[in-house]
Amino acid sequence: MGSKTVAERLEVTIESLGAQGDGVGTLDGVQVFVPFTSPGDVALAEVTTRNRNGIYTELVELKAEGPGRAKPACAHFGTCGGCQLQFLSDETYRAWVRERAATALAHHGFSADLVLDPVISPAASRRRVAMKALKTVSGVILGFNERQSHRLVDVETCPVTRPELTSLMQPLRAILNDLLAQAMNATVHMTLTHLGVDLLIDAPMALDLAAREKLVDFANTHDLAALHWQDQGFLDPVAIRRTPVMNLSGVLAALPPASFIQATDEGEAALVKAVLDACDGFKRVADLFSGIGTFTFPLARTHQVLAVEGAKVAIDALAGASNVATGLKQIVPLHRDLYRRPLTPKELSAFEAVVFDPPRAGAKEQVAELAKSDVKRVVAVSCNPNTFSRDARTLADGGYSLDSVLPVDQFLWSPHLELVGVFSRV
Ligand SMILES: C[S@@+](CC[C@H](N)C(=O)[O-])C[C@H]1O[C@@H](n2cnc3c(N)ncnc32)[C@H](O)[C@@H]1O
Repeated sequence: MGSKTVAERLEVTIESLGAQGDGVGTLDGVQVFVPFTSPGDVALAEVTTRNRNGIYTELVELKAEGPGRAKPACAHFGTCGGCQLQFLSDETYRAWVRERAATALAHHGFSADLVLDPVISPAASRRRVAMKALKTVSGVILGFNERQSHRLVDVETCPVTRPELTSLMQPLRAILNDLLAQAMNATVHMTLTHLGVDLLIDAPMALDLAAREKLVDFANTHDLAALHWQDQGFLDPVAIRRTPVMNLSGVLAALPPASFIQATDEGEAALVKAVLDACDGFKRVADLFSGIGTFTFPLARTHQVLAVEGAKVAIDALAGASNVATGLKQIVPLHRDLYRRPLTPKELSAFEAVVFDPPRAGAKEQVAELAKSDVKRVVAVSCNPNTFSRDARTLADGGYSLDSVLPVDQFLWSPHLELVGVFSRV
């Protein structure tokens, strides 16, 4: 006769929210993490893992509700892994966003007082989204992964995403059902650009003429700007009806397929304002990890700008746009790998202010050079509070003061968070 293990259950009162959005309580001095709970909740939870950080659980039942809860906006909440924190009231969520930044900074010795009131993008504002699709016998599932799983949740709509993108979900299901082979997976990248939706479908399948015609029809019917098909890395421009461009402070910059843009209009506006305010009064600015010019073009209205970027297609788009734009100061585009060849203190001495906005890994190599430079103002834009705080410590140890940190949340109800840190040479 086989034996059956009985899962261990705990009852715990939640005291705070952790960095990943789980409720955190303590039992016998050990932290207990319970998803979908908030301070004041009393949770019955089943243990899944124990490690040196504490005990990880799944919520079985709420025995009592604390004051920080609200009704989730989406019917898929709880199953869909896209949003973890929809069950929080606006005030609790805002306080947690600020706390998330403050906790990361505290690990590197910075005060919570530096953290400003967060700018949080509203619902229905996400302008870029990647959805997964799977062809099954009963049709195409289109949605996001379940929480901590590779299983897909078929979503009818998505309350964080722009309606121009969610309205394509049902038609996409239909066309993918027509095109994909049984059990085939695809990823659908949708980006709302200045001239309409840019759609990229990534699936391991070459297009025949009939499939191509259906996709062109789809692009026409839904007035897409562009539709690309990507088959195992091979990018096929199926229908380019209008070149996708972004409007960056009045400059139209081409958006190459799969290139980076900020996730919401509101988030971009807040980041740009913070960067412009911090660079006010400084004549020459270097914009490192510039992408297609989110900060370069607004800066170039009043500053001379060196834009440095590692992706050739992105810096070419930036250079192309700056060649035809009017009313800008000088822009110098530079294609360079800043991880392998960061700007040296000597090169940096040409600038009074430097903005850097690296990928999630941060900019360790570039920050080590900045810490030795005489640049007066450094503005760090980051999508990772942990690497931000690490890089901030290097700058502080090099003699910079951290003046303020603005949290900018473009991924509503998720633990993803952008920060803008302003540093001055003291
Ligand atoms: C977070 S994005 C920011 C882009 C831009 N500042 C914006 O707001 O749209 C990071 C950028 O760093 C670029 N990048 C990644 N690795 C790089 C490297 N080693 N050297 C230079 N740029 C790099 C990416 O191509 C991307 O454009």
